[in-house]
Amino acid sequence: MKKKLLSVLLAGAMCLSMTAVSGIEADAAGVEVGIVLPTKDEPRWLQDQAQFEAILGDAGFTNQVLFSQGSSATERTNVETLLNAGIKVLIICAQDAAAASAAVEEAKDAGVTVIAYDRLITGTEAVDYYVTFDSMAVGAAQGQYLLDNMPEGETEIPLYLYAGAATDNNAFLFFEGAWETLQPKIADGTLKIANSSEAEALKDKQVLERADQSKIIGQVTTDWDFNVAKSKAESNLTAAGADAKGDVLILAPNDGTSRSIADVFVTDPDITSYQITGQDTEKASVQYVIDGKQSMTVFKDTRKLAADSVAMAVAILNGEVPETDTTYDNGVKEVPSKQTDIQVVTKDNVQEVLIDSGYYEASDFTGLE
Ligand code: GAL
Repeated sequence: MKKKLLSVLLAGAMCLSMTAVSGIEADAAGVEVGIVLPTKDEPRWLQDQAQFEAILGDAGFTNQVLFSQGSSATERTNVETLLNAGIKVLIICAQDAAAASAAVEEAKDAGVTVIAYDRLITGTEAVDYYVTFDSMAVGAAQGQYLLDNMPEGETEIPLYLYAGAATDNNAFLFFEGAWETLQPKIADGTLKIANSSEAEALKDKQVLERADQSKIIGQVTTDWDFNVAKSKAESNLTAAGADAKGDVLILAPNDGTSRSIADVFVTDPDITSYQITGQDTEKASVQYVIDGKQSMTVFKDTRKLAADSVAMAVAILNGEVPETDTTYDNGVKEVPSKQTDIQVVTKDNVQEVLIDSGYYEASDFTGLE
């Protein structure tokens, strides 16, 4: 039984390294790999779930995916449920970077290897590995898109800033990447921040400290919640004078918030045009991009991230040291990490990046040529 399991694992590893995963029989009691994701309410995480189930299932690993539904308490219970089911490896995308430390310390104490998935868990030794997209590059791509598409020859172009949840380490990385890209044009007066006095006060500082970022994010956070994003956009536009209307640029951190912010801006008669960013290639946002309601989104290929995490889990289950290519500082340690590139998606390359690659079906959308 043990031998057979080992060969299953080896076959799984080989299979995964070729990313063609099929035809391996499962032969294990209990759950080997436990996965905890933040919420079912954002389509992003359903994409990840689908990838995990496909890849782990095909590779013959018993696995269970649980959702925390926005609650660190539920997340902790989920981890305990998986520990009771006998997992050897925990793949966890934290609801709250700091609060998750207690749950992963419990897992570590039970002898489980912990892989932080997509979002880093901070302030604890109990994170063995981190598998992530290049989040600084996400923010930089959003900022660069706005610069490449801003109205030509104008100055003091209104720039509205929005960010993710302050409990998510990625929200800082996205913002940092965007800020470093946009800041020179804010400092030279091409752009004018329209909705954050904290950002305005820091406009001459190219590299922000974490405390600076916290001040700005404190004002412009969406909490990754489209209702929060909507009401923040509404109150920003209510407070904005005529000089903050016209042709505007909007840094929106992800697709859900981008759609709700865009829906608010489009109804303001004093907004002549807007460019708005996004992230995650959620189907609804890809449709918005095709329809010209959202300017861009960032493709994070969840097939790759899930495959990298599974390959890591397989190596661990085989007693090997998993492959990593960088490290991330979580405040107490440099966590060995595996990082994946991102890709900008606009109307012009939806077909090539998302359809031709098999990520989505053309029939998922209307108006695709
Ligand atoms: C981030 C994640 C993004 C986005 C966001 C909102 O941590 O990297 O892809 O989904 O959370 O859930």
